Amino acid sequence: MDSERKRKSAIHCLVVFAALSLLCFITPGSGKGSAQRRVAGTQKKVLAPKKPLIDYTQFSHRTHIEQEKLACDSCHKVPSKNWKEVRKGEAAFPDVTDFPEHASCLNCHRQQFFARERPAPAICANCHFNNSPRDTSRFVFPSLGDVTDPLLQRREFVSEFSVSFPHDKHIDVVGMNAPADNNVRALFVPVSLQEKKKDTTPASCPVCHQTYQPQGNSSEEFVTKPPKNIGDSFWLKKGTFKTIPNSHATCFTCHNSDSGIAPEPKDCNACHKFRLPAQGAKVDFDAKLAKDMGITDAVIAAAWSRRMSSGTFRHEGGEHPDLNCLTCHNVATFNVLDVKTLKVSVRSCGGAEGCHVTATTDDGGALNFEIDQKKKDPAFVCTKCHITFGKDEVPKNHSQAIPSPEPKKSPAS
Ligand code: HEC
Ligand code: HEC
Ligand code: HEC
Ligand code: HEC
Ligand code: HEC
Ligand code: HEC
Ligand code: HEC
Ligand code: HEC
Repeated sequence: MDSERKRKSAIHCLVVFAALSLLCFITPGSGKGSAQRRVAGTQKKVLAPKKPLIDYTQFSHRTHIEQEKLACDSCHKVPSKNWKEVRKGEAAFPDVTDFPEHASCLNCHRQQFFARERPAPAICANCHFNNSPRDTSRFVFPSLGDVTDPLLQRREFVSEFSVSFPHDKHIDVVGMNAPADNNVRALFVPVSLQEKKKDTTPASCPVCHQTYQPQGNSSEEFVTKPPKNIGDSFWLKKGTFKTIPNSHATCFTCHNSDSGIAPEPKDCNACHKFRLPAQGAKVDFDAKLAKDMGITDAVIAAAWSRRMSSGTFRHEGGEHPDLNCLTCHNVATFNVLDVKTLKVSVRSCGGAEGCHVTATTDDGGALNFEIDQKKKDPAFVCTKCHITFGKDEVPKNHSQAIPSPEPKKSPAS
């Protein structure tokens, strides 16, 4: 048995070596970005491979899906064996709640699984956090974003995927009834995403997006303690952000193997698409400011660093909660994979009543005021809606958003 294994690994070693000689441009440690591996293919200089070129602690989907042409369900099983343990009682639903099992790797990676590496073979670290033969505990599978047990270990990683949720296709399907019991399946009734009455928010949005850490009735309005002399300066307030789904809980109430509504849970690739290369969208965010404010909350950090329209906008602020979400978010034209389509237009800051955008500065529009200031002094920084954008030049669409003050007509919409 032992010699059999040795023989096999010797063969495997040769195969691997041959493969490596062909692909000798591979840079070490680029597990997650293997799509870019072959870019050096046109260069003439060929370097002989040195020590281990492949980092077996960094699993890459590109290698296995694009190169090896494997299907998602060749590794990921739904439901996982432990689905009834990780979520308790009524909260449990058939979900992918664990890493792929050894069997899905062994055909190709026997050598790596039995490598003589201490304290454990490198490949184990993709799923197990204690690389010791005694303790083989696993990380919590990242699809369990809703499971909050602080004892669970989470692996830090940058996802290779984005979630593709077609807002338009869910028009007319997602709605919410008050949960009479704990049965999540009872939450859904056919309610239009675009309610008949324009002035009410679609019932569907709060099913998936709630106000994160609202101030509510609390007297504490800031996320962290501001300095005493804060005055009117910006400091992050509670209720600024909306949540986005962090697990399968909502999706799989409808998309499950009983309902017949495609995609089924096993069709991972219908909802998870390889992340597009950085789309160069500018963000209105300053990491140093967030650090100075002592922001450590991961949900806030993630949401804030993605803001590309207005870094200071607060959902709970002023009259914002009374407005229809669709006034500012044109979900019919959303493509969540292309962040530029998610921009909130500066015109929506005017609302129906011209809130922050008015015909004249005397009417009180913050945008009008800041544009005037900027005209007087190019060094003026616009802070009402922005964190970092306010230092830049005034974009054309800002001036164009001001309705012309001609008295004959009512302000342009
Ligand atoms: C060869 C086996 C294999 C195949 C095929 C596979 N996965 Fe995975 N997947 C893994 C392993 C192992 C992990 C945990 C290691 C990691 O996170 O990189 C993982 C983690 C993930 C994660 C969490 C990590 C991340 O980058 O977001 C997602 C999402 C995921 N897989 C989706 C998919 C989808 C979608 C497909 C099909 C297009 C797929 N997987 C195909 C083995 C596989
Ligand atoms: C059909 C064969 C096949 C299967 C099944 C497979 N792999 Fe791989 N894997 C490869 C090949 C080929 C490479 C490229 C490097 C090499 O030859 O080892 C690779 C590379 C890797 C690497 C190095 C980084 C990278 O490019 O991804 C890791 C880590 C890895 N595999 C882990 C796994 C794990 C964990 C599983 C099971 C969940 C798995 N593989 C299943 C063929 C496979
Ligand atoms: C692709 C993810 C993955 C990789 C890589 C992996 N494991 Fe596991 N391992 C699992 C899963 C999932 C289970 C639970 C399987 C089950 O419940 O049947 C498991 C179970 C085990 C167990 C059984 C005890 C337990 O905790 O359930 C041992 C021992 C173990 N792994 C050791 C290793 C070692 C050593 C390596 C590296 C050579 C390794 N594993 C690599 C996913 C992985
Ligand atoms: C069934 C769940 C679901 C419903 C209902 C839903 N959304 Fe979403 N929404 C999502 C998901 C999933 C994403 C993508 C998050 C990601 O990129 O990971 C998203 C993204 C968004 C974003 C972009 C977030 C960002 O990162 O900038 C906005 C804005 C948004 N939704 C608004 C709405 C509005 C307004 C409604 C009601 C008309 C609505 N959504 C209904 C699930 C939902
Ligand atoms: C007055 C305009 C306005 C209204 C009304 C509004 N939003 Fe937003 N929303 C914004 C702005 C501005 C952003 C920040 C966008 C950016 O900078 O990328 C945002 C961001 C979001 C995000 C991304 C996470 C975040 O907070 O940055 C989600 C999700 C979202 N809104 C959902 C909703 C939902 C659901 C409603 C209705 C209950 C709603 N919004 C009502 C203006 C609005
Ligand atoms: C209330 C039930 C319901 C919920 C909750 C729901 N969906 Fe759907 N979903 C549907 C229905 C019905 C369709 C088919 C719509 C159609 O074909 O026009 C669909 C279609 C889809 C499609 C396929 C669209 C296409 O191009 O064929 C994707 C992808 C999808 N949903 C993702 C999600 C994700 C991600 C979530 C969770 C964030 C989710 N859905 C939550 C009912 C739901
Ligand atoms: C109906 C759509 C849908 C299907 C099918 C689906 N997912 Fe997801 N998945 C989501 C949504 C929505 C989230 C939450 C958004 C997020 O975390 O970015 C998510 C989150 C995850 C996460 C955590 C976030 C991340 O990027 O790492 C993992 C891991 C994951 N899914 C794996 C899988 C695997 C494996 C399969 C197939 C067995 C699968 N999913 C099938 C919609 C889906
Ligand atoms: C009432 C809120 C508001 C005020 C006041 C405001 N902006 Fe904006 N700004 C926005 C919104 C919303 C966007 C994103 C939508 C867009 O680009 O149309 C934006 C986008 C921008 C961008 C990014 C454009 C791009 O190409 O991505 C810059 C730069 C900017 N603003 C500068 C300024 C300056 C300078 C001022 C002061 C004169 C200012 N803004 C005042 C709401 C505001």
